[in-house]
Amino acid sequence: MVKFSTAGESHGQGLVIIVEGVPAGLPISEDYIGIHLGRRQKGYGRGGRMLIEQDRAKIISGVRHGHTLGSPIGMTVENKDWANWKEAMSVDPLEGPPQSPRTQRITRLRPGHADLPGAMKYGFEDVRNVLERASARETAARVAAGSIAIKLLEEFGVCIHSHVISIGSVHAQVPDTVDWAAVEESPVRCADPDAALKMAAEIDATKAAGDTVGGVCEIIAENLPIGLGSHVSWDKKIDALVCQALMSINAVKAVSIGPGWEIAEQRGSQVHDVILPVTDPDHPWRRNTNRLGGTEGGMTNGMPLVARFAIKPIPTMVTPLPSVDLDTGEEVLSHFERSDVCQAPPACVVGEAMLALVLADAFMEKFGGDSIPETKRNFQGYMATVGPRKIYR
Ligand SMILES: Cc1cc2nc3c(=O)[nH]c(=O)nc-3n(C[C@H](O)[C@H](O)[C@H](O)COP(=O)(O)O)c2cc1C
Repeated sequence: MVKFSTAGESHGQGLVIIVEGVPAGLPISEDYIGIHLGRRQKGYGRGGRMLIEQDRAKIISGVRHGHTLGSPIGMTVENKDWANWKEAMSVDPLEGPPQSPRTQRITRLRPGHADLPGAMKYGFEDVRNVLERASARETAARVAAGSIAIKLLEEFGVCIHSHVISIGSVHAQVPDTVDWAAVEESPVRCADPDAALKMAAEIDATKAAGDTVGGVCEIIAENLPIGLGSHVSWDKKIDALVCQALMSINAVKAVSIGPGWEIAEQRGSQVHDVILPVTDPDHPWRRNTNRLGGTEGGMTNGMPLVARFAIKPIPTMVTPLPSVDLDTGEEVLSHFERSDVCQAPPACVVGEAMLALVLADAFMEKFGGDSIPETKRNFQGYMATVGPRKIYR
C-alpha cells in the first residue's frame, strides 16, 4: 500500500514527508521532485511568499544510488522564510519579552479559514497555532510525495495532467485535444488561450479590489489499466477514494468524476459511454466518449480518469471581511497576512499529486510486488488476461 504523511508549519523550519509502500528499483531524484515542486509554485495570482521560496526536496532515506530501496522514503523541504520567523515559530519557549511583531498573538478571526474552529477545538489563544498548519504551504509536501507516485505510475505508462477550466465566471472552451506543453506555459494553466487572457484580467481586477477569486480545476490520468479499485466494498471504490483525496486539498468545496452535476440533467442515452466491439486485441474495450470520467462500479474502466474540483476564493483578503475578536467576541476586521489572490493554477498541481497517490496505492494493491520488475511482471500477467473471454483467459 502506498501511504504518505506530512509534517510542518507554514513558517516553521520546513516540511517533512514520509512515503511508504513504493517498491524497490524505482528511479527517483531530487531534481525530478523539484520539477513538480516548481510547477506548484507557478501561477498567475500568487502572493509574495512564492518569490521567497524555491522549493527543493532533500531525500534523506529510502533511496540509494538513484533508486528506491523499498523502505520508507523520507524527505524534507526547507522553508526559506524561516529566517524571518525564528522567534515567532521558535520550538523553545521564549526567554524574555517578544522582539518581533510576528510573535504577537492573532485574535482577529478570518471567516472561511480554519481560525475559529481550530482555536476552539485545540483550546488555543493564538490563531497562529492553527493557521500555520492549516496553510496550504502543506501542499508542497503533498506535491513532493505525489511526484514519487507520478514517477511510479509513469513506469507503467500512466500519465497525469491538469488544467484550469474556469476562474471566477470566466470559462475555458476546452479543445478536443489539449496541448499539455502549452498548458504548462500558460500562467493560469488554461488550454484555451483566449480564456487565459480573460482569466488573468479577472485576477487583476480581483486583486485591484482587494478581493480573491476561486475556480475549477480538472485532473486527468491517461493510460490507466482497467480494474483499479473495486465494486465490492464502499472503501475500495476508486471514484470515492479520488474524491476524498481531492476534497482534502485546502479550499476545495466540490469534487466530481467527469462533469459531475451536469450529467444529472441529461438522459441515460446522453450519458453512458457505449462500449465498442473489440477490433484491436491490444486495445480492447474502447469507447468513443468518456462522459462518465473513466470509472464504473468504483473501478477504472480503461478510459482516462477525469476528476474536477471547485476551489473557493481564498479567505485571507486585503480588504478584510467583518469578523469578531477571539478574546472579546466583539466586532473587528479580519486578520490579513501576505496571501494569494487566486490559487486555482497551483491547486491543479496539488490535485495531480493527490490523484497520483490514490492511483499508486490502488496500483500496488492490485499488482503488488516488492520491486519494480516484480510489479511489472504482475502487471503484464494481468494485462494479458484483459480482453474478450474467448480470446483472453
Ligand atoms: C495552492 C493553495 C494556495 C492557497 N493559498 C492561500 C493563501 O495564500 N491564503 C489563504 O488564506 N488561503 C489560501 N489557500 C486556502 C486555505 O489554505 C484554506 O482555505 C484554509 O486552509 C481553510 O480550509 P478550507 O478552505 O478547506 O475550509 C490556498 C489553498 C491552496 C490549495
